[in-house]
Amino acid sequence: MNKIKYGVAFVTGGASGIGQALCQEIVRRGGKVAVADIEQDKAESLAKELRAVGGEAIAVHCDVTSRESVEAAYSSTVQTFGKVNLVCANAGVIVPGPVAKTRESDMLWMYEVNVFGTLRTIQTFLPALDEAHGRGEFAHLLLTGSENSLGVPIVGPCSVYTSTKHALLGLADTLRRDLLASESGVGVTLVCPAVVNTQIWNATRNRPNSLGGPRQINSAASEMFSQSNTPESVAIIGLDGCDAAEFLVIPHPEVESFTRRRADDLNRAMDACLDRVSSLDHSDTAVTSARHGGVNQEVHPQ
Ligand SMILES: NC(=O)c1ccc[n+]([C@@H]2O[C@H](COP(=O)([O-])OP(=O)(O)OC[C@H]3O[C@@H](n4cnc5c(N)ncnc54)[C@H](O)[C@@H]3O)[C@@H](O)[C@H]2O)c1
Repeated sequence: MNKIKYGVAFVTGGASGIGQALCQEIVRRGGKVAVADIEQDKAESLAKELRAVGGEAIAVHCDVTSRESVEAAYSSTVQTFGKVNLVCANAGVIVPGPVAKTRESDMLWMYEVNVFGTLRTIQTFLPALDEAHGRGEFAHLLLTGSENSLGVPIVGPCSVYTSTKHALLGLADTLRRDLLASESGVGVTLVCPAVVNTQIWNATRNRPNSLGGPRQINSAASEMFSQSNTPESVAIIGLDGCDAAEFLVIPHPEVESFTRRRADDLNRAMDACLDRVSSLDHSDTAVTSARHGGVNQEVHPQ
C-alpha cells in the first residue's frame, strides 16, 4: 500500500524537475502536497495543474537559505492541511567546475542551499513528523542526494557540488541514528539519482544577487541532460523507497562502477588497517587501543 495515500507532503524545490515529479506522483498516490519553491509562479501553476486533476495542492513560497522563510512555509502548510507526513528536502543547485576554479561565492551558495537548506528544512519539520508518528501515521523524510553522494561520477568535475552531496549522505545516516536513539519513529530515505532531465544545468538562474546574481546558461549541458533519466523515475522509485523504509535508494544502474569503486576503496583501507595493526608490537599502547576498537562501538541502526 502507498503509505502517503492519506497524508500531506511538503516538497522543497517542488516547482521543477525532480521536485515537480515528486509532487505529481504524491498526488497520483492520493496524497496532498505543498509545492515549496523560490520560483513562486512555477509553484503556483503546478499547484493549479494538480488541483485541476482532482488533487489537493498549494504553492508556498520557500527559500531554503532563510530559516524565516522555511518556518513561514511550514506555517502555511500546517494552516492549510493541518499536518505533515512526508518532507521532501529536495531543493538543490550546482555550479560545475574543479575545486581550484570554484568561486568563494558559489561554494557558499551551494552549501547554503544543498546542505544548510536541507538542515533547516529537517529541523523545522521534524516536530510535526514526530507528531504524525505519535498519531500512528506515516512520518518520513526523503532527502534528494545524488550519484555524487555515492562516489565521484564520471561526468564532471562538479567538485564542490559533490562535496555537498557527500555531506547529505553523512547527514542522512547520522540523522537516522539520532532518530532511532530518541525512539522517534520518523523514517529517513536518501535517494541518489544519476543524471536526470531537469533544469539543474541552468541552476544559476536562481543565484541570489548577494552571491553573484542570476546567470542564464546557454549550454551544451542542456543537450546532455535532455537525453538522460526522467524525473518521474526518481519520484516513483524514491517514494517506493520511503514506503519500504529503505535508507539508501539508487534509481539508476549506471552509477554502479564508481559506487562499487568507493566500497572497494573503503574495504581496501580497512584491510590495510587490520594488517597494519596485527603486524605491530603488542606492547604499543596505541596498538592495544586500536585492537580493542578504541572508543568506537558498533551502534549502527538497521
Ligand atoms: N538533475 C540531475 O541530474 C540531478 C541528479 C541528482 C540529484 N539531483 C538533485 O535533485 C534536486 C532537484 O534538482 P533538479 O534536478 O530537479 O533541478 P531543477 O533546477 O529542475 O529544480 C530545482 C528546484 O529547486 C528550486 N530552488 C533553487 N534554490 C532554491 C532555494 N534557495 N529555496 C527553495 N527552492 C530552491 C528551483 O527554483 C527549482 O524549482 C537537487 O537537490 C539536485 O541536486 C539532480
